[in-house]
Amino acid sequence: MKKITVSAPGKLELYGEHAVVYGRPCIVTSVNQRLKLTVELIKEPIFEFNAPDINIKDYIKPMNKLGLGDIPKGAKHVETALLNFIKKYPINSGVKVTSKSKLNSLLGFGSSSASVVCIIKALSELTGKKLSNKRSFLSDKAIFDIAYKTLLDIQGRGSGVDMAAVIFGGTIYFVTGGKTIKPLNLKSLPLIIGYTGFKAATAPLLNQVALKIKRYPKVIDTIFTGIGQLLPQAQKALSKEDWQTAGELMNFNQGYLSSLGVSSAKLDSMINAARDAGAYGAKLSGAGVGDCMIAFAPPNKVSAVKKAIEKAGGKAINIKSNVEGVRIEL
Ligand code: MEV
Repeated sequence: MKKITVSAPGKLELYGEHAVVYGRPCIVTSVNQRLKLTVELIKEPIFEFNAPDINIKDYIKPMNKLGLGDIPKGAKHVETALLNFIKKYPINSGVKVTSKSKLNSLLGFGSSSASVVCIIKALSELTGKKLSNKRSFLSDKAIFDIAYKTLLDIQGRGSGVDMAAVIFGGTIYFVTGGKTIKPLNLKSLPLIIGYTGFKAATAPLLNQVALKIKRYPKVIDTIFTGIGQLLPQAQKALSKEDWQTAGELMNFNQGYLSSLGVSSAKLDSMINAARDAGAYGAKLSGAGVGDCMIAFAPPNKVSAVKKAIEKAGGKAINIKSNVEGVRIEL
């Protein structure tokens, strides 16, 4: 087999973002907003990348120059992941990558992580000694390790939680760097999701938090510890489908994230609107400032909460969470 199409879901953090970069746990779910890449092994020793929706057309580079020179922003993740893969598992061919879906379509659900995971998974399938249709050459954990290295190469810091969500799918309990990756096996997750209308860049927010740690080490450590302490109860609440407790714990988590300085007026107004309309609780999800907010609400309040989010200037998005991780598309 020389060509394969792979798809990966988006992700949403339920609890623990930012603190997870510093050794605390996090709970993350996958969402059914999938990114698709077609990857082909070609004779010529070149890397060729086409993703028209992000203005990347016929980006071509010799395989032995990967990672060098100017790399357009949209190609950085795929190229670095490819480089990290071939450093570990050298290949004698070129690689052609085409984006099948809009890379932009992930509305702040983590398109870069999805693209990194797709290319590694595809290469693992194309180059590995496949034992059966289902067996990949690399285990999910081995894919995670290359994906996490790619994130650190590009961003300097990060927990890897996004990569784990995209690879393993479902809803997982995760500790920094993949020290723990535990599926929660939830039967349902009636999450309400509101999109702010813009994606936020993660790296500057991580740098902002890192600067605060330098200035206020004890204060920030107390905030991170507080966030970490929400997690055992949150995990239990999710498993018992106790959405009230799960929502109330989101409110605490949002308070901590606000004091870290990663919320925004837009997120605050959407979160407050959701609460005022009867949600049990609501919080931002991810690095902050933009992207998405999430909420839990009693079933008879869901529609009012969604309307309130829209009235506050957000977009209520109906997509499934707790879905399958990276997979081969036939
Ligand atoms: C971003 O999706 C989640 C953060 O916790 C960063 C990370 O864990 O790498 C803000």
